[in-house]
Amino acid sequence: MTAQILDGNRIAKSLRADIRQELQQWQADGHRLPGLAVILVGNDPASEIYVKGKRRDCDEVGFHSIVQHLSANVTQSDLEARIAALNADDSIDGILVQTPLPDHIDEDRIIDCIDPNKDIDGFHAYNIGLLALRRPALRSCTPKGVMLLLEHIGCEFKGMDAAIIGASNHVGRPMGLELLLAGCTVTTAHKFTRDIAAKVKLADIVVSAVGKPNLVPPEWIKPGAIVIDVGITRGDNNKLHGDVQFDAVKDIASWITPVPGGVGPMTRIALLQNTLQAARSHQGRLKL
Ligand code: GUN
Repeated sequence: MTAQILDGNRIAKSLRADIRQELQQWQADGHRLPGLAVILVGNDPASEIYVKGKRRDCDEVGFHSIVQHLSANVTQSDLEARIAALNADDSIDGILVQTPLPDHIDEDRIIDCIDPNKDIDGFHAYNIGLLALRRPALRSCTPKGVMLLLEHIGCEFKGMDAAIIGASNHVGRPMGLELLLAGCTVTTAHKFTRDIAAKVKLADIVVSAVGKPNLVPPEWIKPGAIVIDVGITRGDNNKLHGDVQFDAVKDIASWITPVPGGVGPMTRIALLQNTLQAARSHQGRLKL
């Protein structure tokens, strides 16, 4: 079997066109443009590239966006005060604090400060809690992007066995909640898991989100499984590597995502969708 490629760039392009069209209607109905505020702390080159990409995405669909680029020495209280100001700013519908943050900043407390209705990353405990309770509101972008990719396949996921490798707060855990909500039976493997290979081998859907190149060999994959690679590691010559041994696994899986060009563009689409969704509910509330 040779897997079909889940081309995130192509799917994202079509979803971006849908967002543009929705935005036209939104403006025709007399609303202002959705507004995204990004806070970037310090000079981490990877974070600067991500933020530039997010800004470009906003420009491309026609959203209003601002970036507050702060010194790496910013204090916890300064950062919290800035978030409070953005929470109260009616021209801003979505707030994103780019991570990682410097070590002296308590990242959990920063996320707690963001108004859950403006939490377009879907990182806030309130939004994760709603997803756990089967009442999704603003959903974490990477897991949501993966679900958009799976929807593209268009098969019935209810009852499928899914294995997630990696149990991070921002990807692995909300990914498990998304797949559970879709009716899958979910196993989440993490650093204490015994015999990961045996567990992954049972799965119809495998999502790897570790960030360790070549972690997932073909021997772990059930023939015909759907394989989603969230891992992204920059290697020599700036080359990007996923977690999955793509060339070998593609001969066993039914569908597989490439790295780059698989999950990455879908995460960015989910961010745009969340910003529009936040604008709809925020601007709707302002009119009350
Ligand atoms: N750092 C890397 N990816 C992300 C993301 O999706 N959101 C935030 N806030 N920080 C990130």
